[in-house]
Order: sequence, then structure tokens, then C-alpha cells
Amino acid sequence: MKNIVILISGRGSNMQAIVNANIPNAHIAAVISNVPDAAGLAWAKERGIATAVLNHKEFKNRAEFDMSLAMLIDGYKPDLVVLAGFMRILSPAFCRHFEGRLLNIHPSLLPSFKGLHTHEEAIKSGCKLAGCTVHFVTEELDSGAIIAQAAVPVLQNDTADTLAARVLKCEHKIYPQAVADFVSGSLKLENGKVVNVSHSDENAFILGQG
Ligand code: GRF
Repeated sequence: MKNIVILISGRGSNMQAIVNANIPNAHIAAVISNVPDAAGLAWAKERGIATAVLNHKEFKNRAEFDMSLAMLIDGYKPDLVVLAGFMRILSPAFCRHFEGRLLNIHPSLLPSFKGLHTHEEAIKSGCKLAGCTVHFVTEELDSGAIIAQAAVPVLQNDTADTLAARVLKCEHKIYPQAVADFVSGSLKLENGKVVNVSHSDENAFILGQG
């Protein structure tokens, strides 16, 4: 059994998708939030999942918050730490501590549109496709090895909100799959790239508008 700790800051719909996937050999050890009233915490608690809050506002600086967060996470003996809408930039020391067992989902087709406001940027740039990326987390923001991606069309009358909603449906498909692939030991790093030994060329999806 692999222990998984999920970090959220808000509604936690990706966390819910991962929990609901009932991934074989995966135990959701805890859901942790930096925001005390994050909606996803109540959802997890209702399902009997251990939850914890570490409010970043109560810390002097990022380094101290990250150190306490790492200690809190370590207490759950995680094999994998999953960032699911965790809206804090993590320090290099934190990323190094969990290197190789820290995943993130980003709402763009990386390496395009790192950082915030990805959907606005995709629309502004006239992109015809947008999407999401699951990747390993490294010290450099939104830059670790890519595990899976999904693309959706950008429609002519899209707003950032309508595009975000279309992309979010893809997130809920590829994130649980990526976590399952990690847990089953299917992800190998070769020359800085992820090779999936269980389903070699199915880690990219182009999904319809639905
Ligand atoms: C998602 O769009 C994710 O890609 C981004 O933050 C959002 C979190 O949504 N990192 P949720 O909390 O999982 O619903």
C-alpha cells in the first residue's frame, strides 16, 4: 500500500477525483490545506479522511512555513505527495525533500503558460488548443518532467471561465490516472523524461468539447 498526502487550497475537485478513483494499493493518508476554510477539507473529513490545516499566514516567511509543512507531511509517511490546487509556491528545499514523489497539475499545456492566468493567456495568444499537464515538481516553477497531458479546443467565444471548465474535466481524468501510474510503479525517469511502462503512448489525450 502506498501512502498519499494531498495538498489543497480551495474546492479540491482534483483531490475529489483522485479519492473517488479508488486507486488500487493507494491509501489517502491525509488532505492538508494552507487555507483553514478550504471547501475540499470538509469534503475529505466527511469521508473519514484525516485532514490538517497549516495556515501560511501564521508564519514569518516562506522557509518557515515550508519546513513546518514538510514535517507535517512526513508524519504521514508519504510515498507520494500530490499538489491539487495548492496555491503556494514551494521553496527549493521543500521540492528537493520530496523530489521524485511530488506531483502537480497545471492548467496549461506545459511548457506554455507557466504560472497564473493560463486560460486568459491561451485565449489572448489565439491558441486553438489548450489543456492541462501532470508533472513531477522540481525547484523551477511548472518545469518538472511531464507525466501526462490532455488537450481541448479553444472555442471562438470562450472566456477564461468557459475554457477553465472544459480543461478541468480533463484534469479530473488525467490526474487520477497519473497517480495510479505512480502507485503501480509504471513511471520511470529516463534522461529527464517520463517513460510510462504500462501504457506507453496513451499519456496524451485530445478530448472533445464535453
Ligand atoms: C486546477 O485548475 C488546477 O489545475 C490548478 O488549480 C485548480 C484547482 O482546482 N492548479 P481544484 O481545487 O482541484 O478544484
